[in-house]
Amino acid sequence: MSSLCLCLTAPTYDGVLAQLERYRSYIDMAEMRLDLLNPSERLKAVDLPVRTEIPLILTIRLPEDGGLWGKNGETEEDRVNLFLSLLESGAWAYIDLEHERTMADAAAAAAADAAGTRIIRSMHDFDGTLLEQPVSDLAEMIRRMAEGGSIPKLAARCTGSRRLLTLARVALATESIGEKVILGMDEYGTPSRILADRFGSVWTYASALGGPGEPPAAAPGQLDPKTLETLYRFSEINESTPLYAVVGDPIAHSRSPIIHNGWLRDAGLKGTYLPVRADDIATLLETCDIWGLRGLSVTVPHKEKALAICDYSGYPARRIGAANTLLRVGDGWRAGNTDAAGFLEPLPGAMGLGSVEELKGKKALIFGAGGAARAAVHALIDAGLKLVILNRTIDKARQLAEETGQAWGPLSDEALPLLEGGVDLAVQTTSVGMHPNEKADPAPWWNPRGCSLVYDMIYEPVETVLLARARSAGVRTLNGSDMLKAQARLQFELFTGCQAPE
Ligand code: ATR
Repeated sequence: MSSLCLCLTAPTYDGVLAQLERYRSYIDMAEMRLDLLNPSERLKAVDLPVRTEIPLILTIRLPEDGGLWGKNGETEEDRVNLFLSLLESGAWAYIDLEHERTMADAAAAAAADAAGTRIIRSMHDFDGTLLEQPVSDLAEMIRRMAEGGSIPKLAARCTGSRRLLTLARVALATESIGEKVILGMDEYGTPSRILADRFGSVWTYASALGGPGEPPAAAPGQLDPKTLETLYRFSEINESTPLYAVVGDPIAHSRSPIIHNGWLRDAGLKGTYLPVRADDIATLLETCDIWGLRGLSVTVPHKEKALAICDYSGYPARRIGAANTLLRVGDGWRAGNTDAAGFLEPLPGAMGLGSVEELKGKKALIFGAGGAARAAVHALIDAGLKLVILNRTIDKARQLAEETGQAWGPLSDEALPLLEGGVDLAVQTTSVGMHPNEKADPAPWWNPRGCSLVYDMIYEPVETVLLARARSAGVRTLNGSDMLKAQARLQFELFTGCQAPE
């Protein structure tokens, strides 16, 4: 099991103590970043190990490694002297020294040895090019860093799914090194911070985030200790913990981790559900194989490719032509789709109808022809509605409409003749109007009056411009929140075999 280490990033010593106090119940250890502390207060940190009863790392980071040392004219000699003054107490558990680089090294390392302080040999790669090297070379480098009983630490920027896969392979190739830290910086690397245990890391780093006047994270992509512990149950993750994830690009806005982790906890089930940003789903699946991930929620823009690369696919996914759920079967993946059922669930109620049967014979207008539209189109055809599908790229509208025997047109006022006589339902499936482009309207030329429901799959913002127009016209509205929960509920059952708690 990995420990949780809080990076102490405040510029004042009182601020450092406040950060420790605030996160005390979530953390196992802390790293004192002396380079971030005001120069006049740095020596105050001498008493930090006495004040706290947890293991502490002493770090003075250089600018090339993401630190601020030297910004106030400090020299390498000053750095050595500061290390020596603090190490004297013998109370620091660890000291972080860069691998094969600095002058300070020999003197600080000797003082650390004398004081009984373990050395962390760290390597920071902020442009991520290190991860272009062969896995065997990187593993060899980490083995060298571990020489003499040091703890090797590799922190490399992950600029895409390929580099995260390399990092996971490096972790696998260095499994025999009992104590190490391997982490990926940036959003693509975040899984390595949550799944520190799967990466064989003895600890993960977290920063104080989100408090008033709080400095930025100590490294890009870090989470705060409370989120790691309360949302992802970090301290419970071990090699037998079932893992699930939502994969998309972008992913930061996704509510799925909050929904699924909440259900896992409330149902008393072991497991962690994490967000994964991926620019290539096939590469990500290789990485998931290494982690032993059991289930994936798939979101924009990977739904169609996810179906194509799966070994097996269920009926709804194949028919819809998109997968929003991947399940591990043996050593392969099975594609599923819960979007269509999730889309339909809140619909009759929102239209003031008693059941799905009452939808039969009604006419619906669909904005968009992507993966989400495909799920809605199939659900509505099964319910017996007649559709008009409008899309910016007209060929996609034509293809989906011809596949399903419906009418189609462009996403412009040229489509108005197709809507003569009005529609009962309008379904908005494009990303137009979604946060952060909240002022956008996918069809400013269309008047919702006369329609009985406008259903927008977007859930952030809660009310899109289109929904606001519909409401002003006296039309009922429904956003994507209920659909999100309904499709997630079905997914949860597929993932765990258990019903999602109310
Ligand atoms: P999803 O799985 O969410 O449906 P998708 O398959 O990428 O994602 O589909 C996105 C939909 O939003 C498409 O209908 C797309 O129109 P195009 O097929 O013309 O790309 C639509 N869309 C995205 N941005 C749009 C924009 N600025 N204006 C109009 N439609 C847009």
